[in-house]
Amino acid sequence: MNNRLLKVEDINTLSYTDFVGLIAQWNVPPGAFSTLSQWRAFGEVTSSSNILEAACTTGFSLREMSVMTGCSGIGVDISKRSIETAQSLKEEYAPGADISFQAGDALAYTVKQEFTHIIIGAALRFFPDSTIALEHLLSMLKDGGYLLSSEFYCHKAIPQKLVSEARKVFGIEVTQVNYKEVMQPYRNLTLIYESRNTPVPETTEDLDYYCNSTIEKFSQQHPTITDDVLLTMRTRLMEIKQMSNKLREYQKYNILVHKKDSRYYPHRYTELF
Ligand SMILES: C[S@@+](CC[C@H](N)C(=O)[O-])C[C@H]1O[C@@H](n2cnc3c(N)ncnc32)[C@H](O)[C@@H]1O
Repeated sequence: MNNRLLKVEDINTLSYTDFVGLIAQWNVPPGAFSTLSQWRAFGEVTSSSNILEAACTTGFSLREMSVMTGCSGIGVDISKRSIETAQSLKEEYAPGADISFQAGDALAYTVKQEFTHIIIGAALRFFPDSTIALEHLLSMLKDGGYLLSSEFYCHKAIPQKLVSEARKVFGIEVTQVNYKEVMQPYRNLTLIYESRNTPVPETTEDLDYYCNSTIEKFSQQHPTITDDVLLTMRTRLMEIKQMSNKLREYQKYNILVHKKDSRYYPHRYTELF
């Protein structure tokens, strides 16, 4: 779709991920930069690291990790539009970074060389089978390498009405798994570091500031876009953020660093407490 010819109807019919790609949302893992800092410190990311980011959306984690550390890597996402945006955000915010982005199914992605790190930010649940997806990703992680991830989990049931509203906004089912279910696919890895976090709901002012910043940026970069299209984009982004905010009451998230250690992988000889 040519951005110059965008119409109001197009904005409302795009899938959630394509919309995120179109408006160049910085779509971040929970905790954003703070999460990257924890992954970097406890996962020992350095300028020698070579990272695969699976389901990278618009590329925030890999790009900003590369800016922080000088690491190299590749990001893969099934949304072509998100990948196009990841490439242009890389050119704009990290032109010197040795990273690239590729559109495609991460489950079909294979490489000969192994990665030192794999990042998957709040996205494992987007695959039909999280355990199979993780096994595939781990086959590309070198011995002693780190899996850097984050997960949302529910600490109380989300009311059915809210689940239906969220389905309309995101076009997918929201994650309703509890902590133990979220951790199950990781059972054969060594948990090096975990922080468990309670998200703080955003105020209307917080949401306004964020949505205005994102849409103003889009408007500057696409001066031919009409005001009615911009307004529709802002309204849809606000709906997404408000829905995420409503869900926060039921969710917590953790930041995880796991190690693949061939001395005992895929077994676990440590207790969980
Ligand atoms: C919640 S977003 C991920 C957010 C991002 N990782 C972050 O931390 O900001 C989920 C992403 O998974 C991607 N996705 C879903 N199925 C996929 C697949 N089979 N292969 C690659 N990406 C996939 C979607 O396109 C979407 O961008």
